[in-house]
Amino acid sequence: MKISVIGCGYLGAVHAAAMAELGHEVVGIDVDAAKIESLSAGIPPFFEPGLPAILASATATGRLRFSTDIADAAGASVHFVAVGTPQQRGGNAADLRFVNAAFEALAPHLKAGDVVAGKSTVPVGTASRLSARLESTAPGAVLAWNPEFLREGFAVKDTISPDRLVYGVPDGEPGALAASVLDRVYASAIEGGTPVVVTDYATAELVKVSANAFLATKISFINAMAEIAEVTGADVTALADAIGYDARIGRRFLNAGVGFGGGCLPKDIRAFTARAEELGRGESVAFLKEVDQINLRRRQRVIDLIVELLDGQVNGKRIAVLGLAFKPHSDDVRDSPALDVAVQLRGLGAEVVATDPQAIENARVRHPQLKYATDANTALQDADAVVLVTEWPEYTALEPEVVGERVRGRVIVDGRNALDAVAWRAAGWTYRGLGRR
Ligand code: UGA
Repeated sequence: MKISVIGCGYLGAVHAAAMAELGHEVVGIDVDAAKIESLSAGIPPFFEPGLPAILASATATGRLRFSTDIADAAGASVHFVAVGTPQQRGGNAADLRFVNAAFEALAPHLKAGDVVAGKSTVPVGTASRLSARLESTAPGAVLAWNPEFLREGFAVKDTISPDRLVYGVPDGEPGALAASVLDRVYASAIEGGTPVVVTDYATAELVKVSANAFLATKISFINAMAEIAEVTGADVTALADAIGYDARIGRRFLNAGVGFGGGCLPKDIRAFTARAEELGRGESVAFLKEVDQINLRRRQRVIDLIVELLDGQVNGKRIAVLGLAFKPHSDDVRDSPALDVAVQLRGLGAEVVATDPQAIENARVRHPQLKYATDANTALQDADAVVLVTEWPEYTALEPEVVGERVRGRVIVDGRNALDAVAWRAAGWTYRGLGRR
């Protein structure tokens, strides 16, 4: 099929490459010329495991190309809109300016029978507004809302073999057409057993935000238990294991620690709250404000533990911060708890040396004042304390004895409960996790 993908960020670039990998003819479009130049050369402008390989193979076949000119979408009959919907400056609602601009720019190039599939995460009600607008700007084109559930770090696999596909479509003939076109786009996943939920716009939009709200709530739930564990001497990891054995609860996303970040969960729960308030149903999701607060408190808890372990004397102390990305296998520092902790410790007068296998450049753009080390050994050298905030495998594999030889003080805060506390203590370290004895 002939496909255009508007917006080539973490979502769109992977979607474009994956669709070409599946055999479709794809053009990826973005207003950022540097990004398009890099993608055209087969170089992803961000770190995503597996993306370089499919980008190279798809561009080599000639099925994948990139352009800054939206007119190049005209040759396609299915158009995915995958632009960002960041949090509004100074507010909680989603900023829809990129979505609106993409639809306005695309409309003149659409033909009757084309399907536009929205992938961006939008407030409920957006698709029906955009569909009404398309009726006058691109008569005969049909809008579907097809939310994306990929996880950074696993984006290629999640796009090629998703857990589920959701199509929000209009009633009647146009909806049936859009669903059948999307079935053809995703034929290989559907043949592989991926379930498809065909529904209306509002449900499709809500599936996306409620899935992220549920995941955020699950993480904050276990982090709330960590807070209780901290004042009772209980161990949140054993607690998570025990409740996780109940299949109705499940162990995944029950890792207590410094909390969630990234370009999705934090802004999505805030945008959901803002939208529910606009709809007069703020109380229905008021708990998400609590979810947000619990999450942000965990960052402070990591800082407080460091301060406590350094006897209140952080000023001038050298602190190695292991991790900057919001999670391992990503270079994304948007709303990253790790970066936040590094910045706050520096604000307290510490000599922070932060490191990350992939995210230093992105962190440096946001916080040029921080000191960065390209490898863990340099960051750890002569440190008075160590804080692990992103559980990259190379950090969780560190040997306490070996690290102990490098540092000045054997003090570590494990902000992801990812280290073997017994082994670190046995090597003479003062070890503290979150919600653990
Ligand atoms: C999240 C969702 O998982 C995807 O399904 C969704 O498509 C995506 O948002 C999106 O809306 O685009 P992602 O942001 O890539 O994906 O990251 P997650 O793997 O969900 O992790 C989010 C944060 O939660 C990370 O900071 C991670 O460290 C934290 N986390 C995760 C925990 O603190 N504890 C856990 O047990 C699990």
